[in-house]
Amino acid sequence: MKVILTQSYEESTQIGAELILGALAKKPELLLGLATGATPLGIYQRMIDACREGVADFSRARTVNLDEYVGCLAENSYRKFMDDNLFDHINIPKENIAFADHTADPEQEILRLRKFFECNTVDLQLLGLGPNGHIGFNEPDEVLEAGCHVVTLAKATKEANACWFDDGVVPDQAITMGMGDILRAKSIVMVVKGESKREVLRGLLESDCITTRNPATFLHLHSDVTVIAEKSLVG
Ligand code: GLP
Repeated sequence: MKVILTQSYEESTQIGAELILGALAKKPELLLGLATGATPLGIYQRMIDACREGVADFSRARTVNLDEYVGCLAENSYRKFMDDNLFDHINIPKENIAFADHTADPEQEILRLRKFFECNTVDLQLLGLGPNGHIGFNEPDEVLEAGCHVVTLAKATKEANACWFDDGVVPDQAITMGMGDILRAKSIVMVVKGESKREVLRGLLESDCITTRNPATFLHLHSDVTVIAEKSLVG
């Protein structure tokens, strides 16, 4: 695991964006795995800027997102978040975007996405880190699932994400890529932002033990992971 400790969030996003844009330059038909939340926003802005400046071309790129709420309003969906913060501002064809549909039957969506992952390999997976160690929405538990599945969100996760909902009410369930889907990506870039991640980040960086109680520790099983975090979080 490669760990890059930065002086600031801006530096983290600069390095994260360089990794993504570098991979895109090498492989224009890159399949990018994308994340939601506050953490990737700075990276997405840099991707938008690069596209506007003509130094990045997403016309052949494809994406798949980690997760989506089940049965949420369109305005609260992760799909809208991604449209607003990335997709509507870069030249990616809409048909190249794979996403769980928050309006569809979740079980049918799981089958559709499992098929997608059988036929496609993510080239670069961007991850954030949940305050309880979740990646995607793979919540700490006794067991973790390898494939795409419906998850009941942990209380801590609902609390952490309530700020994104006008009424503060977070759906109980979400669809998430499984741990196997994430670990099958050819390379993984995890960016960590925020004090609330300090404990789980230290759990990840201070030993190579793997525990389902901190799903991010499974990244130790992968041979090409870069963790980018502010230095102040590990000091
Ligand atoms: C949500 C998403 C995760 C994301 C996490 C961290 O729970 N499902 O994929 O990594 O939030 O969010 P933030 O970046 O806002 O701290």
